[in-house]
Amino acid sequence: MPIVPDRGEGVWIYASNGERYLDLYGGHAVAATGHCHSHVVKAIKEQADKLLFYSNLVYSEARAGAAEKLVSIAPEGLTKAFFCNSGTEANENAMRMARMTTGRKNIITFSGGFHGRTADAISATFLGKYRELGKPNVPGHLQAEFGDIDSARALADDSVAAIMLEPIQSMAGVRMAEPSFYRAMRELCDERGIILIYDEVQTGIGRTGEWFFAGSEAGDGVVPDIVTLAKALGSGIPVGACLVTDRIAEHIKENDLGTTFGGGMIAMAAVTATLEAIEEDEMLENVSTVEAYLRERLKEVEQVVNVRGRGFLLGLEFADAAKPIHEHLLDRRIITGTSSDAKVLRLLPPLCLGKEEVDLFIKEVSKSLSSG
Ligand SMILES: Cc1ncc(COP(=O)(O)O)c(C=O)c1O
Repeated sequence: MPIVPDRGEGVWIYASNGERYLDLYGGHAVAATGHCHSHVVKAIKEQADKLLFYSNLVYSEARAGAAEKLVSIAPEGLTKAFFCNSGTEANENAMRMARMTTGRKNIITFSGGFHGRTADAISATFLGKYRELGKPNVPGHLQAEFGDIDSARALADDSVAAIMLEPIQSMAGVRMAEPSFYRAMRELCDERGIILIYDEVQTGIGRTGEWFFAGSEAGDGVVPDIVTLAKALGSGIPVGACLVTDRIAEHIKENDLGTTFGGGMIAMAAVTATLEAIEEDEMLENVSTVEAYLRERLKEVEQVVNVRGRGFLLGLEFADAAKPIHEHLLDRRIITGTSSDAKVLRLLPPLCLGKEEVDLFIKEVSKSLSSG
């Protein structure tokens, strides 16, 4: 995008030429607490003054505190955390843990899912051109149809270690399945000894108006065996995590997993402060309130034929291509996202977005459409 961001504050980005942009994209779902939230910035600065880094070969209060905080908000049963540096790394480790736990090799993922760009994660990605980019792919990745439990069942034999899915497929254009699909997936995994992994790199840490999609009503309360996280987790400091059950953790011995920078002190300070900021500013409640307001106001825009997703992971489906609208909005200094569905405009704003900014967005979208 033709913007050179210089400074950020809440839902606003200031470009180097002084122009101000409303950020409904959040640096790709990262800036959940808003740009430069004072509590997060203070925690990072304080940690930087004490110790920038030491490896996870040693105990760290910053790491223990972040793990404890993360587990305290996680759905019941997800009791242990492993920290790494990104979403793709979290997914690589999740698949590895599933293979270690089951002694099996194959992984089922879904059409339209995106899981990252390293070898195993890109091989698990059945969206557009990405898998091609990772050739030669890691063997043993099987593709089922998102939302179709029979297609997963047909592949789920005793060679399958894990079924992994984005519970809401963001890059595919914000696609969700019926609650019964998630329940059926849980039952299938239990029946066949398969590990269920939710890739919550986008949906996690409050984006849906709840801390996680795992355990939510939209997913019929289903809790997977592993949840992977990144993006919003550190408010912009690179950090990823796998949340796992005791059963998975029991199969992992010291040194089975590793990463130099994972669990570093700066990242851990950012994680704890991010979760605290979301709590203290009541951002989950804000997401639900402002989502409802946005949906109501979108009814005024007749070219929006459908609003997909939950909370602040929304796909606005237009009757025609979304790209010209995205470009018009950028001219009007509003940043939104596109997706691999040409008719869908994606909104992934900070969780502190308010009604006033929604009004501004509606005004500009309407103008964009009336100017043709
Ligand atoms: C659902 C999902 N999983 C995994 C990833 C990969 O995360 P990262 O870019 O941090 O490796 C992404 C990135 O967009 C994502 O959206």
